[in-house]
Parts: sequence; structure tokens; C-alpha cells
Amino acid sequence: MDTTHRHPVKNRLHSWLLERGEAYMHRKYGPRKKAIFSRLPNSVVEIGSGPGANLRYYPPGTRLTAIEPNAAMHAPLRANAVRWGIDLTIRGVKGESLDLVSESVAAVVGTLVLCSVDSPRQVVAEILRILKPGGRFFFLEHVAAMNGTPLNRFQDWLAKPWRWAFDGCHLNRDTHLVLGQAGFSTVDMDCFMLTSPAVMIMPHIFGVAVK
Ligand SMILES: C[S@@+](CC[C@H](N)C(=O)[O-])C[C@H]1O[C@@H](n2cnc3c(N)ncnc32)[C@H](O)[C@@H]1O
Repeated sequence: MDTTHRHPVKNRLHSWLLERGEAYMHRKYGPRKKAIFSRLPNSVVEIGSGPGANLRYYPPGTRLTAIEPNAAMHAPLRANAVRWGIDLTIRGVKGESLDLVSESVAAVVGTLVLCSVDSPRQVVAEILRILKPGGRFFFLEHVAAMNGTPLNRFQDWLAKPWRWAFDGCHLNRDTHLVLGQAGFSTVDMDCFMLTSPAVMIMPHIFGVAVK
């Protein structure tokens, strides 16, 4: 059941939490994001932009279409666009049903979002639909630990309360498999662990998938 984006108070709380966590995420993910974002064209679609943690990495002047269904994120997202000189358009739709023309986009970005969407397979199918042939999907996600490991069992145990507390975030999604099976012509994916006590959101994957 879709339980996201229905509770105004939770929506505002999640936006507030993400804004508070921005400096932490910059420290943890900044170098990898810089490596990914330096390869972007000047027009980009981002799925689940939140309050805009990624905007600092886009070159100023980038035309960004932000897909963000939680309206509570829109004001801080706009403020970040002004701060970082981004030409922003917000679409308050879900990644599962993008209101964008097929094969019209050269680059899509998604960070820490496929854990939270209702259907990662449907979102990735939509990304493939809107990408031009040769277009690229840049991703950074936390995924399920390897089956049978203590960490995997811990993620399964914690998954339900975590999902409730953190905006529908699934700790134990096989997003790496979803990306591998989606139909991209190539998927260049690295796996990494964070230096952090937040072991439940590990490991991470990041890379580029080409249509
Ligand atoms: C954990 S936050 C990540 C925000 C940002 N991408 C980052 O890296 O900090 C997940 C974001 O995905 C959004 N989201 C949740 N479900 C979504 C869906 N079905 N389609 C698009 N975005 C969604 C949430 O509103 C939230 O902004």
C-alpha cells in the first residue's frame, strides 16, 4: 500500500530531516556525487529531489526538472535552486508515472530514491521510457546486504518500523538487481560501504546506466 505523501505533518517532518541531514550527506556522498555530476549535460531530470541536496553539484545554469511528489519539499528545493543558480522546474508527480515525453531526455539522476518509491521497477521503466537512446541514468542508492548475512537479517527485522519512520524507505531492496534487469544497454555499477554507524543503510551502489 502507498503510505507516502498523504500525511502533511510527516511530509513536513521528512523535509525538515532531509534539510538537517544535508551537511552530513555532503560529507558522506559528496566526492562520489561530484564524480557523477561532472559528467551531466546542461538539462537534467532528477527523480525524488527532496529539498535539493544535489543542487550544489549541478553546474550553475543547469536546467533541472525535479520530480518531487512531496509538496513540503518544494519551498526548500526552490530556495536551493536560487542559492546554487539552477534553472528549476518542479513536477509534483511520482516517478512511477512521469508526465514527460518518451525519448526526450539525455540524463536522469536519482540518489537515495529507489529505496523510497512505491515500485522501483516501474520507476526504472519510466526512466528508460523518457531517456533518448544513448541517454544516461546516474544513480546512488543504498541496497539490501547480501542474502544470508547478519546485516541482511537485521535489515529484514528493522524494515517495517524503518519504513514507517523514514518516509517509506525500504532497507532491504535489491535495487542493484532491478537496475541490472531493467533493459539498459550497459550498467556500470560500483558498490561501497560508508564510514558510518548507520550500518542498516549499507551497502551502497552508484554508477551510470546507459539506454
Ligand atoms: C530519502 S529522500 C532523498 C532525497 C534526495 N534525492 C537526496 O539524495 O537527498 C527520497 C525522496 O524521494 C521522494 N519520493 C518518494 N516516493 C517517490 C516516488 N514515488 N516518486 C518520486 N519521488 C519519490 C521523497 O519525497 C523524497 O524527496
